[in-house]
Amino acid sequence: MGYNVAIDGPAGAGKSTIAKLVAKEKGFIYVDTGAMYRGLAVYFLKKGLKKADVPGIIEACRDAEVTISYDNGIQQVYLNGENVTRLLRTEEVGNMASHISAIPEVRQKLLELQRSLASEQNVIMDGRDIGTNILPGANVKIYLTASVETRANRRYRELKEKGEPCDLEKITKDIRERDERDMNRETAPLKQADDAILIDSSDMTIQEVVSKICSYCNI
Ligand code: DC
Repeated sequence: MGYNVAIDGPAGAGKSTIAKLVAKEKGFIYVDTGAMYRGLAVYFLKKGLKKADVPGIIEACRDAEVTISYDNGIQQVYLNGENVTRLLRTEEVGNMASHISAIPEVRQKLLELQRSLASEQNVIMDGRDIGTNILPGANVKIYLTASVETRANRRYRELKEKGEPCDLEKITKDIRERDERDMNRETAPLKQADDAILIDSSDMTIQEVVSKICSYCNI
């Protein structure tokens, strides 16, 4: 059994930035589970499936194989053998991922992959249901959050830096809608595990959050 750190929290809370830095400092493997949902979302979008077509998505799920590997320590997501990592980080894919992740069959598909990665090695895994559902026995559980305004501003700056068109009002609306969906779905909704440590990063620097999490990792 590996040493497992679970980080859950809403979109834009900084989970992946923080988890990557903790992984570096502690020598953990960083597992980004949102990227796996995004990989499946790419598949359904390519097939022209609409987010409301739940039977179609469940059917298509059977032919989608998501695997991951690491290139210089950076997680790569493969969809039926094709590396789709560069396609994952768009708002369209993120929104589709949020919709399809509410479908139990989709979640089931990724559950074994996530659990087996954590059983084999020391990992820091981020997502929405890691502490509550995927790794209930994790050594450290963190619930990382920040205000909607902070998260929207961070997303806006990120997109702007990449030179992508963005509108703060639309990003704020999307974040609110995604929170609503992720927190209120029936299967494995986003919530703080009873034994998770709450960190609100709204007024903290990245390094402050990283140091705080590292201080809980007794390894
Ligand atoms: O963390 P992210 O933005 O890459 O995740 C995209 C969507 O995937 C998110 O809105 C909800 C879903 N997701 C999930 O339901 N469970 C996870 N463990 C990770 C992500």
